[in-house]
Amino acid sequence: MPTVNLSLGTRSYSVHVENNSLDSVGYLTGRLRLNGKAAVISDSNVYPLYGERVIQSLEDAGFATSLHVFEAGEQSKNLATVEQIVNEMVAEGHDRSSFVVALGGGVVGDLAGFVASIYYRGIPFIQIPTTVMAQVDSSVGGKTAVDIAAGKNLIGAFHQPSLVVADPTTLLSLPPRVLREGMAEMVKHAAIRAPRMLRTLRHLASEIDLGFTLNTIDALPDTIAENIAIKARIVEEDEKETRGVRAFLNLGHTLGHGIEASVPYGELLHGEVVSLGLRGALWLSRKYCGLSAAAERDVLDTLKALELPLTLPANVTAERALKFTASDKKFSGGAIRFVLLRAPGEPVLSEDVTADDLAEAMQLLATKP
Ligand code: NAD
Ligand code: GLY
Repeated sequence: MPTVNLSLGTRSYSVHVENNSLDSVGYLTGRLRLNGKAAVISDSNVYPLYGERVIQSLEDAGFATSLHVFEAGEQSKNLATVEQIVNEMVAEGHDRSSFVVALGGGVVGDLAGFVASIYYRGIPFIQIPTTVMAQVDSSVGGKTAVDIAAGKNLIGAFHQPSLVVADPTTLLSLPPRVLREGMAEMVKHAAIRAPRMLRTLRHLASEIDLGFTLNTIDALPDTIAENIAIKARIVEEDEKETRGVRAFLNLGHTLGHGIEASVPYGELLHGEVVSLGLRGALWLSRKYCGLSAAAERDVLDTLKALELPLTLPANVTAERALKFTASDKKFSGGAIRFVLLRAPGEPVLSEDVTADDLAEAMQLLATKP
């Protein structure tokens, strides 16, 4: 099975990517030095699909389990859900020898990881990501968080998992829109580190509505592992995003976050705003770093093949989206640090981008490519 190892000293761990690896969770967990009880945290969509297999696998390997299911959706990623689960865990007798198992998409992973980071001042946790977004991005790297009224992901902790088990067959039950939006992060990875992957992604795009061919399903673990390896190498270099390298993963996210915050919740999915943000970032990259028109086209064609948006929805004006962009936390202290692409696979962190540039890029997104 493809395995990606993250080398982070005492916080090192492995990411296993294999079709049907849900049934190996107990065995893989058994190889870690964990002997307490497992608190399995999942959401109301994922638990009915995959929960029993994971619990069975853990119990077959000798682990006692408790189950904590919350209502699916970003609106549950908050402190109230954290408190509810922590109270349940105390009632179930979990102590500092326990560990958390996060089964679900990025919402479950971020919330369960945060619970693990604070329960008894921190217990280990295992990620079992079930969306594209979670498999290629959020389950790896140790960022955990919940949302508060003042903004998304404003309370959190760096807490690396002890193990990640990604089973690509779980992606087959995703609604096609959720499958497509997660692939925006794969396009981002391709743009910053592996431009030749764009072709593979265009091929995957052509098969999404067919539910993939057998060949594609067999090849999925390698493509997902390649994406994880890109993120893993970056996290190893800059675990806490203090050295300007992990920030490369924010390509397309600055404008994207502004657009995301400017629309009613759920109208645009995260990967959809990243698609829009990538278009804006590539346009700025042509202006400031000499990115070629062909390189820009290669990325935009891939986003288009995935049916991801490249134009703002009719009800979002560039002015409104810009207002939310300016309040994004990346602009704290007034400095705009913007990720640009000098060439395929070569991101740079720029302080040249001005507020006027951002306004122009946002205006561009109101037009067809
Ligand atoms: P999500 O967890 O809400 O999942 C999307 C939807 O799909 C949900 O309704 C979920 O119940 C359902 N679902 C999940 N797996 C399924 C499956 N296999 N079959 C059928 N339905 C399934 O959203 P997401 O896109 O996975 O993650 C978004 C979250 O991730 C956001 O909160 C974002 O802030 C966070 N995130 C975190 C990081 C990080 O580094 N920590 C990075 C990117 C995103
Ligand atoms: N998703 C961006 C990061 O993990 O840094």
